[in-house]
Amino acid sequence: MAKVAFLGLGVMGGPMAGHLAKKGHDVTVYNRTPAKAEAWVKAHGGASAATPREAARGAEIVFACVGNDADLRSVVLGADGALAGMERGATFVDHTTASAEVARELAAAAAEAELGFVDAPVSGGQAGAENGVLTVMCGGEPETYAKVEPAIMAFARACRLMGPAGAGQLTKMVNQICIAGLVQGLSEGVHFAKRAGLDVEAVLEVISKGAAGSWQMENRGKTMNAGTFDFGFAVDWMRKDLAILLEESRRNGAKLPVSALVDQFYAEVQSMGGGRWDTSSLVARLER
Ligand SMILES: NC(=O)c1ccc[n+]([C@@H]2O[C@H](COP(=O)([O-])OP(=O)(O)OC[C@H]3O[C@@H](n4cnc5c(N)ncnc54)[C@H](OP(=O)(O)O)[C@@H]3O)[C@@H](O)[C@H]2O)c1
Repeated sequence: MAKVAFLGLGVMGGPMAGHLAKKGHDVTVYNRTPAKAEAWVKAHGGASAATPREAARGAEIVFACVGNDADLRSVVLGADGALAGMERGATFVDHTTASAEVARELAAAAAEAELGFVDAPVSGGQAGAENGVLTVMCGGEPETYAKVEPAIMAFARACRLMGPAGAGQLTKMVNQICIAGLVQGLSEGVHFAKRAGLDVEAVLEVISKGAAGSWQMENRGKTMNAGTFDFGFAVDWMRKDLAILLEESRRNGAKLPVSALVDQFYAEVQSMGGGRWDTSSLVARLER
């Protein structure tokens, strides 16, 4: 068992850090809003620190799961950042969904300080984090990855090294591209079934057994039909992810017409007040 730190105790980070503690790791947490760190320590034991630097001191692995590129830089770099507190040979594992560029930038900064860095975005949502069954897509050096994989498995059911720094984030972009078009297709199916006067639940039940079946259909079909969206993966986060992958596509030349269109649909959902709604709320703009 290792001495580890966890930075960012949000919807995802809180339960992920909890699984590390449950496995017997010695966990020190940091959260920008200290009350959350205090509540976490009450629930799971371990310790909390006032800055990322303090939390990282003496840790073999420092995990993070914050919002976006800027948030990540703010907990890693600078006088109070984690890198300033880490000891040679330690590894930083970032679970934030961020750009491949920031992963490469931070991997270089870590290497300069003789530290390891693994970008390790996750898929599986809040339920995946709470149940410890996330999918983790990693980028980094094979020797560094081998050191951290056993600890990551405390909250994952699958974890894989996809290539050098940034490859984890690029893989997560593929994940989000696949989800964006699929959720729009599912929204149109649910919307059409309603207009056609069909029993929507019965339709989803039967077609989910055939070629149209998907995780989104299984897990979101019913709530889309009911118009319930106050849970899950927020539209604001999805737009952040779509902005990252559309920017990357401008660099690598990939054509993503549907992802670009769905991004605009999500902008409409935001203007309907749905920034914090689950991504399945795409159906709501068809039903207005
Ligand atoms: N929720 C999901 O279903 C899901 C699924 C896969 C991936 N993700 C990704 O995982 C990441 C976290 O998502 P989440 O749902 O856990 O978000 P969240 O609940 O909003 O938590 C964000 C965490 O980051 C911290 N934070 C944000 N900006 C910061 C800054 N500038 N400095 C220090 N700490 C900062 C927050 O601190 P405070 O408590 O002080 O606000 C909080 O602990 C995002 O990149 C998201 O895209 C989320």
